Amino acid sequence: MASTEELQWPLAAYRRRQHEGVGAKWRAPRTHLHAEMVKKRRDPTRSPKRELEEALRALQAGDLQAVEQLMQREHETPVPEDWQRRYCDGARAYWDQFYRERTVNFFKDRHYLREEFAELMPAHVLADPKRWVDELESGPEVIDLKKAALETKTVLLELGCAVGNGLIPMLRANPDLFGVGCDLSAEAVGLLRSKDEYRCGRCFAFPSDITKGADQPTAEHRALEEQLPAGSVDFATLLFVLSAIDPEQHSQTLQRILSVLKPGGMVMVRDYGRGDLAQLRFGAGHWMGGDRYVRGDGTLAVFLTDSGLRETFEAVGFVSLSCEYKRNEVVNRGTGVVMPRVWVQGTFQRPA
Ligand SMILES: C[S@@+](CC[C@H](N)C(=O)[O-])C[C@H]1O[C@@H](n2cnc3c(N)ncnc32)[C@H](O)[C@@H]1O
Repeated sequence: MASTEELQWPLAAYRRRQHEGVGAKWRAPRTHLHAEMVKKRRDPTRSPKRELEEALRALQAGDLQAVEQLMQREHETPVPEDWQRRYCDGARAYWDQFYRERTVNFFKDRHYLREEFAELMPAHVLADPKRWVDELESGPEVIDLKKAALETKTVLLELGCAVGNGLIPMLRANPDLFGVGCDLSAEAVGLLRSKDEYRCGRCFAFPSDITKGADQPTAEHRALEEQLPAGSVDFATLLFVLSAIDPEQHSQTLQRILSVLKPGGMVMVRDYGRGDLAQLRFGAGHWMGGDRYVRGDGTLAVFLTDSGLRETFEAVGFVSLSCEYKRNEVVNRGTGVVMPRVWVQGTFQRPA
């Protein structure tokens, strides 16, 4: 459990961790990709620029055959088994490193959630979802998670909350929500706790490996079911999180989420879809079999299908309310290049 000091003065505690504690001893985890990168530098036919150009050409032309071809990896040697194990079992170290390097600056606030997940928003926001909403007022408030969660009308659990780019905008837009966040990376949770808006009195975050119960990776981590009473959560969100978890662990993770949801409670998912630009542009040396890849920093990237996601949720007892691909065009502000993206998005309900 987080110490009272950490809850009361999260920024001070986070800075102390960084400068006196864990930070001083930290060494970046290794990946198998160093040799691959050296090879790539010598071979102009395998540059990341070329891989991006090929992927963009296929997607922009809507050439499904070329898209499928770029996803066919059987001719490639997959990442060695022992490294695959390391990326899955040791994911915490890679995510901690990710947040050490990028701090709070990597992900953008997900304001679009107001429109995408209407169930989470009050009527006045739905009537004008793009209207400005004020930042949360912060105070020195210490939160008793259980008391607050039980007393608050609507409990939102954000799984894999990172530094709060989903959680905080949702709390801003809906004053009736009480937000609970958890993430595998204690670094990310420390950064979230160091934000002024975290101390709004409606928010609590803790490190947790959501694939695991009591066998958490460190004494600092807590199982979902230890922190939240069974049947206490109204809504849960999984935003680009299942793609970071080995698919073999998806079912056990969803079972754990099902048990903390209220009957009738819902899970909202948005994640990378199969055929997304990010999948097509992966070069050699990243493929782990099927639609699973590892990024250069050692974090997993699994690309999901709508039918696979639906099946996994339904197999553990959820009812699918919706589940479909969303196609989007994102413009790179620096280069002006239009990048077609594929997400998969769904809402799943625990039967009443
Ligand atoms: C791609 S990031 C998305 C972050 C955030 N949901 C957002 O959309 O901005 C994936 C997040 O999932 C977290 N994560 C990965 N595996 C996890 C696990 N087993 N339990 C909890 N969180 C996990 C990572 O630490 C990381 O913060």
